[in-house]
Amino acid sequence: MVGQGYKKRKTERQTMKDAKIISFSIFKGGTGKTTSAVNAAAALAQMGHKVLLVDLDQQASATRHLGIDPEPITPNLYDIFVRRSPISLARRKTEFGFDLVPGHSLLAAVEEALEAGDEGLFKDFLSGIQPDYDYILVDSPPGKAMLAISALTAATHVVIPLQAQRPALDGTHDIFRYIQDVVWKDFNPELKVLGILPTMVRRLGGHSAGVINKARELWGNKVLPIEVPETVIFPRSFDKGKPALVFSPRHKSVMPYFELAKIIHEKT
Ligand SMILES: Nc1ncnc2c1ncn2[C@@H]1O[C@H](COP(=O)(O)OP(=O)(O)OP(=O)(O)O)[C@@H](O)[C@H]1O
Ligand SMILES: [Mg+2]
Repeated sequence: MVGQGYKKRKTERQTMKDAKIISFSIFKGGTGKTTSAVNAAAALAQMGHKVLLVDLDQQASATRHLGIDPEPITPNLYDIFVRRSPISLARRKTEFGFDLVPGHSLLAAVEEALEAGDEGLFKDFLSGIQPDYDYILVDSPPGKAMLAISALTAATHVVIPLQAQRPALDGTHDIFRYIQDVVWKDFNPELKVLGILPTMVRRLGGHSAGVINKARELWGNKVLPIEVPETVIFPRSFDKGKPALVFSPRHKSVMPYFELAKIIHEKT
């Protein structure tokens, strides 16, 4: 009987379409992972898709970006990782048309407790709610740490935000090498690189054009045909607790995030 019930549930699940899981990842800090994940989530939701954003960072910047104080929230991701709660109870609706699993400072304790072999835990947790969404976006923490690797293990696709300002492209080289040498071999052979997203692009002066040209030489059409300009709209919308494309919907600098949402929809 138990076996039959399991079989039935499995068959029902197979008829539903599981969410694509898109991780915004690069080990280098401050390149636009959170800003891109939050705005892509808002854009996909405005296009009518069912979207969940998971804030996997102990800094909980994505959560704060949505005007939510993460600290009092329970159950939180710590409770999920210690198996005190299913992930379904940790999600909440936002006023921006998508759901959020908030970040929490206790993710620092999770990071410390995770050991080699635990890379697939997060993927297992997500699988319980994957049929509820069209897209699950993951805001990865910086650093080559267990939670960042857990995001790459769970993802069907990865977007790599490239801060197009300094001539050095080592952060992008580093994550590509890691995906090729470790993630594809040991954790997630199916992971697809959706693309490199140039962020904080300076129109005048600086190195942006050179950085993007060099990236195209190296990675060809893996560099997305999108440029997110550098503008105060993004830090300002963070302070206001809203995605920039909700805070300033007509500002031309937010349009690239609608383009990114379209690419996510078409290419995943
Ligand atoms: N296009 C942009 N123009 C100007 N400022 C930006 C832009 N995108 C992001 N920022 C700002 O740059 C800072 C870093 O961005 P963000 O938090 O998105 O990066 P991150 O990669 O998530 O950082 P971390 O590695 O710390 O998680 C933030 O203050 C953010 O408001
Ligand atoms: Mg971040």
